[in-house]
Amino acid sequence: MPKIAVLPGDGIGQEIMPEALKVLRAVLGDRIKDFEFQEYLVGGTAIDQTGKALPPETLKACQEADAVLLGAMGGPKWDKLPAEERPERGALLPLRKELGLYANIRPVKMIPSLISASTLKEEVVKNVDLVVIRELTGGIYFGEKGRKSDPPSVYDVLYYTEEEIRRILKIGFETAMNRKKKLCSVDKANVLESSRFWREIAEDMAKEYPEVELTHMYVDNAAMQLVRYPEQFDVIVTENMFGDILTDLASMLGGSIGMLASASMNGKKGLYEPAHGSAPDIAGQNKANPLATILSAAMMLRFTFGLDQDADRIEQAVRKVLAQGYRTGDIAGPKDHVIGTKEMGDAVVAAL
Ligand code: IPM
Ligand code: MG
Repeated sequence: MPKIAVLPGDGIGQEIMPEALKVLRAVLGDRIKDFEFQEYLVGGTAIDQTGKALPPETLKACQEADAVLLGAMGGPKWDKLPAEERPERGALLPLRKELGLYANIRPVKMIPSLISASTLKEEVVKNVDLVVIRELTGGIYFGEKGRKSDPPSVYDVLYYTEEEIRRILKIGFETAMNRKKKLCSVDKANVLESSRFWREIAEDMAKEYPEVELTHMYVDNAAMQLVRYPEQFDVIVTENMFGDILTDLASMLGGSIGMLASASMNGKKGLYEPAHGSAPDIAGQNKANPLATILSAAMMLRFTFGLDQDADRIEQAVRKVLAQGYRTGDIAGPKDHVIGTKEMGDAVVAAL
């Protein structure tokens, strides 16, 4: 039986995850029996209960699972711990690394009824439909890091093997083949050797994908182009840190980071999580937007289980509730009627 490990995590993770599960139950109906859902501790909550952000039991369950559904992790309570024990470096990054989830996929598509939620002008964002493919298990986030005392100094190493670059570029080319066949590879080849190597490999691979129009863009320019004329992008592929930064930026093109779903893949195996954090400031108040988690659950149905129709139904239901005017605080305009986390989950279920 396919296994799904459920990791609500910290802060609003505890509130948004039940809504995603509610929606999965509603869309799958009787077929829910064909899946085994099991909840595990992760992040600060796991530190409090077991002393470790990623307890061995949780890691093992995730390794054995077909898919992992993750809420969010981290919060001020654990910020003072040594860096490697904190939820981010102690659980999220090792989870990605241990499961080999090298391809992070973050689609950004403007939902017409959310145009006014974006801080950008309507004519700039109304036709946004892009996806960022971010390398997730290499680069500077995983390289050697440390400090030295004489003189006081610090280093973070950016390291990639050719194979790591090829496999993420392959996902980029293949994603482009299934879309508008435009691939923009983002780098900093005017400064970084790693970027020059990345570009050479991208050029080499482009020969295998003659239908794909490959372009290259420096990351600083890409940040500017994303707010200037985002419609020019179809698929963006980039290394870990550039992708981290550009996906937060790109989330605003779809209205709010509260809408940005994400899939981290290794073949069919995936970890699905909203791109936002644990939002400690609003945690426990039924204020959080559960839609990014609900949309992440839809990505799980599509990418890991091949249930495209069910995924489509969830995505349509989300568009419908937004068109009906339901809004959580993060996507509400001054005149909108604001509802809570649970009510938003209920509204999606009702719209299915
Ligand atoms: C993300 C997050 C994480 C990352 C943090 C929490 C380590 O910002 O998923 O984008 O940088 O990958
Ligand atoms: Mg990020």
